[in-house]
Amino acid sequence: MATSIPTLDDVSLAGKRVLVRVDFNVPITDGRVGDDTRVRETLPTLRELAGAGATLFLAAHLGRPKGPQDDARLGPVAERLAELLGREVRYAPTPGPGSSEQQEFVAAAPEGSITLLENTRFDPRETKNDPALAEVLAGYADAFVNDAFGAAHRAHASTEGVARLLPSCAGRLLQRELEVLGTLLESPQRPFVVVLGGAKVSDKIGVIRNLLGVADTILVGGAMAFTFAKAAGGEVGDSLVEDDKLELASELVAEAEEKRVRLLLPDDVVCAERVERGVDIAVHAIGAIPDGLKGLDIGPDSTARFEKAIRAARSVLWNGPMGVFEVPPFDEGTRAIAHAVAAMDGMSVIGGGDSVAAVNAIGVADRIGHVSTGGGASLEFLEGRTLPGVAALGSVPWR
Ligand code: 3PG
Repeated sequence: MATSIPTLDDVSLAGKRVLVRVDFNVPITDGRVGDDTRVRETLPTLRELAGAGATLFLAAHLGRPKGPQDDARLGPVAERLAELLGREVRYAPTPGPGSSEQQEFVAAAPEGSITLLENTRFDPRETKNDPALAEVLAGYADAFVNDAFGAAHRAHASTEGVARLLPSCAGRLLQRELEVLGTLLESPQRPFVVVLGGAKVSDKIGVIRNLLGVADTILVGGAMAFTFAKAAGGEVGDSLVEDDKLELASELVAEAEEKRVRLLLPDDVVCAERVERGVDIAVHAIGAIPDGLKGLDIGPDSTARFEKAIRAARSVLWNGPMGVFEVPPFDEGTRAIAHAVAAMDGMSVIGGGDSVAAVNAIGVADRIGHVSTGGGASLEFLEGRTLPGVAALGSVPWR
């Protein structure tokens, strides 16, 4: 694997009490889990550990509650997990980690059972990475398995703190995320094409900089393309622009030239007066958008050009939609890119919440090589940053 952290292949957890950090930060509507991808993706790890006879305590966060809050309880997730596993998942709505109720519930866990602990963020010590809370959590188990790639960029008590106190390793999901994303950064099959979208250049600067050192082509869509277009002297009408990032956009273009990376902007864009279904649309060159109109999607020529580059790639990484894909007809560019990425021959990887939501909505997720479960975590990893939840793994020796 890309890093030298221990995995489930390196340790024996048979008969042990194991604390497993999972990322169950999923949408809940009317008391039921919506998109359960993150829950399903942990099943291989949970089945493997349960099959080895371990007793499991799952730690997870949901949302950003300010303390115990009924709408951030993990009950619906426990129900969904039990359905998916086809077995009982113990859950009790305790005040939170470390509470005497939770400690009693943990102490009463039968051997071989699976317990989902209440939202770790009900305790303010979680996000402060307070060692006292990490110690409570460490006291629940003999070992720690981190399978929460989506939360690995957070140095919290249940991700980083506890890994400094218990023998630990990566679960199967975390292992796969690091292997796939790590391979793209270190030794991608070439040509390696990166498709970046989203509203702001400022959100993607670190990723662009890091990928300029490894990608062959970077295709830029989404509103951030307008900052590049304006920096190059174009008229972008009322399109979204980060005026304080114009210089930076020019620097990135110069850096791409220097590194001989093709940085492609859309040449045409779909424009409208406002974001609204049924509104009049017109296609304009990205550098000649009339005042009063904003660019809201990549145009047909750009779509064709981007599709061609994707078809010719051996590895593709896609992060961020090409337009306002929630509001048709501004979803067409994103749809076309999703289909092109799904159809390409080679390794396709999608990272980041919005593009993952797009491939799910478009129905091509099962044709993508790897859909990352990490939003912020995948971006930080692609920026080349060390994820604290990963770095801490293996710091306590196994015996
Ligand atoms: C996510 O949804 O990206 C992770 O679960 C992390 O959540 P956070 O941004 O609230 O820390």
